[in-house]
Amino acid sequence: MKAVWYEQNGDAGVLNIGDMPDPEPGPEEVRIRIVSSGINPSDWKRRQGLTATMGHPRVVPHQDGAGVIDQVGSGVPANRVGERVWLYQCQIGRPYGTAAEYTVQPAIRAVPLHANVNFTQGACLGVPAMTAHRCLFADGPVAGKTVFVPGGAGAVGNYAIQLAKLDGAQVISTVSSDEKASIAKSAGASHVVNYRTEDVVSRILEVTDGAGVDHIVEVDFAGNFKISQQILKANSVLAVYAAGTPPQPPVPLQFNVSNVNVRLVLVYDMPEPAKTAAVEDINRLVEQNKLSHLLGPRFSLDTAAEAHRAVEGGAIGNVTLDVGTGD
Ligand SMILES: NC(=O)c1ccc[n+]([C@@H]2O[C@H](COP(=O)([O-])OP(=O)(O)OC[C@H]3O[C@@H](n4cnc5c(N)ncnc54)[C@H](OP(=O)(O)O)[C@@H]3O)[C@@H](O)[C@H]2O)c1
Repeated sequence: MKAVWYEQNGDAGVLNIGDMPDPEPGPEEVRIRIVSSGINPSDWKRRQGLTATMGHPRVVPHQDGAGVIDQVGSGVPANRVGERVWLYQCQIGRPYGTAAEYTVQPAIRAVPLHANVNFTQGACLGVPAMTAHRCLFADGPVAGKTVFVPGGAGAVGNYAIQLAKLDGAQVISTVSSDEKASIAKSAGASHVVNYRTEDVVSRILEVTDGAGVDHIVEVDFAGNFKISQQILKANSVLAVYAAGTPPQPPVPLQFNVSNVNVRLVLVYDMPEPAKTAAVEDINRLVEQNKLSHLLGPRFSLDTAAEAHRAVEGGAIGNVTLDVGTGD
C-alpha cells in the first residue's frame, strides 16, 4: 500500500511517501480502506516531537479518517465488511494512523458513518468534535446556560458552538476577522466579538446584562485568562483544551468568583465511557443532519507535507488528504 511516514521528529520535510506492506487485522481489529485522512494540530506537534516522542521506529501519522472496512479480524462480525466508518484516535499507542491506503484499528475505533456525511466530513469528526463534546458535557448539560467559545472558526471551536447551541445554550464567541465572524455566526453563535478590535470583556458583560458566562470552552488558557477572570460566574466551568502561550500560564489559586471548575481536557485520555457517549451523540446529530462540518483545504497523499504546513499555518477548517476513492 501507499503510505506517508516519518522515522524521526522534525519539520514537514521528514514526511516520506512510499510503499509499505498491506496490514492484516488481528483479533478484535478491522482493516479500513482509507478514503480521507483528517489532519489536526496534534499531528504536526507529534511529528515535531513537541507533544510525543517517536514511540515507534516508523510512524504513519494522523488520528482521524474515514473509509470502508474491507477485512475483519477474529471476534468481529463478518457483516462489518463493506461498512462506511469514521475513525478516531488511530495513532495513539500505535505506530500507524490514517495517512495510508489502509489502516488496521481496534474495531471500536471504527464508527458507522451515516450516509448523510461524505468521507471528507467523516474524517473531521474524531479529534475536533469529540474534544468539543468533552469540553462542553464533562460537567453536565449546558442547556439554558451561556457558553463562551473563544475561536469560533477553529475546528474544535466550531463544533463547540454547534453542540452547545443544539443542547440549548446561548453561545458567545470571539474571532479575529470578519470571515471568521461569519463562520462562528453560521455555527450558531448569537454574539460574535472580534477580539483584536473590540473590548471582549465589556461586550460579553453587555450582552449578558452584566451576568457573565456559565461555561467557557477555552483555546488559549494563558492568553485569555484575564478575560476569563472577568466574565466567569460563580459555580461556572472553565474547560481548557489548549494552553496557549506560555504553555504553563501562572494560574492564581483565587479566582474573582468562587467555585470555578477548571477542567483540563485531553481528548485522547478521555475515559472510555465519555468517548462512547461522545461518539453516540455525534452520530445521532449526524443522522439528524444537524451538524455542519467546517472543511478546509484538501490535499493528496503525495502532498502530505504541504498539508501539514497548511495546518501549522492556521488554515481555516479541517485539512484533509484525499487517499482513496469514495463519495
Ligand atoms: N486538548 C485536546 O484534546 C485538544 C484537542 C484538539 C485540539 N487541541 C489543540 O487546540 C488548539 C486548536 O485546535 P483546532 O484544531 O481547533 O485548531 P484551529 O482549527 O487552527 O483553530 C484554532 C482557532 O483558535 C483561534 N484562536 C487562537 N488564539 C485565540 C485567542 N486567544 N482567542 C480567540 N481565538 C483564538 C484561531 O484563530 P485566530 O488565531 O485567527 O484567532 C483559530 O480559529 C491546537 O493547539 C490543538 O493542538 C487540543
